[in-house]
Amino acid sequence: MLDESIQELESRSLARIASAKSPEELEAVRVDALGRKSGLTQFSREMGKLAPEERSRIGKLLNSAKQKLEEALEVKKQQFAEAALRARLDAEWVDLTLPAPGPRRGHLHPITRIQRELEELFVSLGFTVLDGPEVETEYYNFDALNIPAEHPARDMQDTFWLDGGNLLRTHTSPVQVHGMERLGPPLRMIAPGRAFRNESVDASHEHTFYQLEGMMVDREVSVAHLLYFMKTLLTAIFKREVTVRLRPGYFPFVEPGFELDIQCLICGGPGCAVCKQSGWVELLPCGLVNPNVLRMSGIDPEEWGGFAFGLGLTRLVMMRYGIDDIRHLQGGDLRFLEQF
Ligand code: PHE
Repeated sequence: MLDESIQELESRSLARIASAKSPEELEAVRVDALGRKSGLTQFSREMGKLAPEERSRIGKLLNSAKQKLEEALEVKKQQFAEAALRARLDAEWVDLTLPAPGPRRGHLHPITRIQRELEELFVSLGFTVLDGPEVETEYYNFDALNIPAEHPARDMQDTFWLDGGNLLRTHTSPVQVHGMERLGPPLRMIAPGRAFRNESVDASHEHTFYQLEGMMVDREVSVAHLLYFMKTLLTAIFKREVTVRLRPGYFPFVEPGFELDIQCLICGGPGCAVCKQSGWVELLPCGLVNPNVLRMSGIDPEEWGGFAFGLGLTRLVMMRYGIDDIRHLQGGDLRFLEQF
């Protein structure tokens, strides 16, 4: 009885192995025939009931069936593996005589592009491009700009303080001071670079952003000079008519100080996330250099005057390209950057 069942299982399983069409089908045969719950395993459980000499005979039968099935499974498995490899080699065939696609070229970040454009413009107007440290002392970031300790204006700029009392510059204005100290008057300089503020990030605020500082010190510099340069700047940037407005603005290092706003180029006025629903975007704080600032850098305010401005480069890029979330710019997502 048991003999026949074993033989029957063996030949049925061998036939299934031979006709299996996939590794999955093969695995199903293995489970049915050799798995813990079925097939040969069941039979070997029944052996316990047999007389000893029967038991050894049936045991041999079971072993030989098991061995044959395992061998057949292995052979078939190899065949599947070889077929899969062959299919892959066929599919991944490469024509080595085709011309190579060439290296993928990167490009400049939109902030870098706009920065370079403005550098070129200002150089053509006689300005020098200066660089300054991102890690600053309190003196350069605040005191020398007429913002003494305890001055409420220090709270306007949430500062990243570093061990030892230094800080990450909260604006590019400290480069004005380095410029005045190093070059003296008359002076025309711009200073593009990163600034840092410890504030919560949203669609229009980042902890790290780019500014472009500008300063001119000469005899008899007036608001008219300031306006001339700002208008030249805006025409060059937007390559079209933009609506601007001047509001009084307070910065301790300029007097008088202004906020130059432009009408939002994303929504054109009705209000959106970038302009905080106001229709206007603060683009450019500016003003005439406070005499205290000149004096602290060793320039006589009786003889010299100046204007200064701080252009938000990051915000400018958003305006120019219609980007509605500042977080894209430093997010490092190539899908975003590849659009420029
Ligand atoms: N440094 C100021 C800021 O970042 C901007 C500014 C620069 C204002 C120059 C006036 C003149 O907030």
